[in-house]
Amino acid sequence: MQQRGIVILDFGGQYTQLIARRVRECGVYSCIRPCNAAIEDIMEEAPLGIILSGGPASVLDADAPTIDPAIFDSGVPVLGICYGMQLIAHLLSGRIERAAQREYGRTVVFMDQNEQGLLKGMKQKSTCWMSHTWQVVEPPKGFKVIAHTGNCPTAAMANEEKKLYGVQFHPEVTHTEEGQLMLKNFLFEICKATADWSMDAYADNTIRQIRRQVGDGTVLLGLSGGVDSAVAAALLYKAIGNRLTCVYVDHGFMRAGESDQVVEIFTRTFPVELKAVDASDRFYSALKGVTEPEQKRKIIGREFVEVFKEISLQLGKRDHFAQGTIYPDVIESGSVKGSAVIKSHHNVGGLPAELGFTSLVEPLRMLFKDEVRALGLTLGLPESLVYRQPFPGPGLAIRVIGELTPEKVRIVRESDRILREEIEMYGAPASQYFTVLTGAKSVGVMGDERTYAYAIAIRAVTTDDFMTADVAPLPYDLLGRISTRIIGEVNGCNRVLYDITTKPPASIEWE
Ligand code: XMP
Repeated sequence: MQQRGIVILDFGGQYTQLIARRVRECGVYSCIRPCNAAIEDIMEEAPLGIILSGGPASVLDADAPTIDPAIFDSGVPVLGICYGMQLIAHLLSGRIERAAQREYGRTVVFMDQNEQGLLKGMKQKSTCWMSHTWQVVEPPKGFKVIAHTGNCPTAAMANEEKKLYGVQFHPEVTHTEEGQLMLKNFLFEICKATADWSMDAYADNTIRQIRRQVGDGTVLLGLSGGVDSAVAAALLYKAIGNRLTCVYVDHGFMRAGESDQVVEIFTRTFPVELKAVDASDRFYSALKGVTEPEQKRKIIGREFVEVFKEISLQLGKRDHFAQGTIYPDVIESGSVKGSAVIKSHHNVGGLPAELGFTSLVEPLRMLFKDEVRALGLTLGLPESLVYRQPFPGPGLAIRVIGELTPEKVRIVRESDRILREEIEMYGAPASQYFTVLTGAKSVGVMGDERTYAYAIAIRAVTTDDFMTADVAPLPYDLLGRISTRIIGEVNGCNRVLYDITTKPPASIEWE
């Protein structure tokens, strides 16, 4: 049975996916459709409510994105947020003007009607997040102003009879203190939704969508060893079984045990047709003599595409190409408005076109990282894979400073395994931690012998978004144990350093 919920129409706002996420957090199913979706297609979802997102345009622009006003007579409750509210006002003959003073950031909103309806239970003065240049100065006929600010005469408006609502502030961002309360009012009081959505339901629904998209075709998916592509593969396997083929290219720079785990999971738990290739020789020869970090990344990217292409051709034509793009990748690649951009981080850019795929399957495109993890557990992937720390596409290659050799990669791989074991055993709080083989060699003494060997650096950071990071304060006894174990167990290094630089000015990775 089709799950009923909220349809969010996307006008290109920065927070559209966040709205979807907040609705899901309330236990209500939601899906996002482009703002120009046909009204029949929207109604096919049998929505309990419709949310019009924010967006960068002005509703008064000649080519401003718009919707069929018939939607307002459909009887389905509609909530417009920011641009969405201005569009409701504009289409129903209210008046929009450029605000005398642009409002941006935390703003006190006076909730003029908070006993019932959309703003029920909210404080009379509630701090909300505003970001707008235009505003509704006169709501359309049949609407009442239900909130205002010092600068904005219509911070929220309602037509109770037709169940049409608009808010100028953003209930979906956490800076709006009571945003979730307002959304709940819309969902449960106004749309009469029930909180029956769960990750299981999401998985079922996505599996159905994949079947619809793929039909009886075949799919090729590049497994990177990371969480996202693994969860995408698990979903696709459940949807189309052995019509899915996965390709796993080991470039030789994976962490200890990683390649084996991927092969193990995807041949046993999810017995997909898996083509795993060890292409490390090829990568090492392409990287011979290369020391410059960007050069390394580019060569790895290029080789990856070549290997992937060769394997795909060997396997024979597949109809569709799948990948584990998640929402933050969509934002980073600047493709929110649509055309599929292959995740450059995973180094398969440009492949679908060349290999003649008919479509791109991206079942995680709507999800945030923590949601992908929850979905992975729901699908039965092991915690050790699901809670893996982020790992860069070029792998350990960018954690060895200078020219790459199998010997240096062995040193960084073994020291990294020890560091991970110790930090995990101790339970030290760090978001990402790894070792780096610094280019420096130093003199030491071991068992009366002079040594001249590499210095290993420990990098451990705490961060939420990986855009900025603090140094994780690892306790001295832990650092001591890590150092002793690395020097004792890993041949080729004789000194351990602790990187105490925040990001910025440093980046998390060394290259
Ligand atoms: P930086 O070094 O830029 O790293 O501070 C921020 C986060 O991004 C990860 N990272 C990558 N991830 N492909 C990826 O998928 C890459 O090429 C790449 N480079 C850095 C890094 O591990 C950290 O989590």
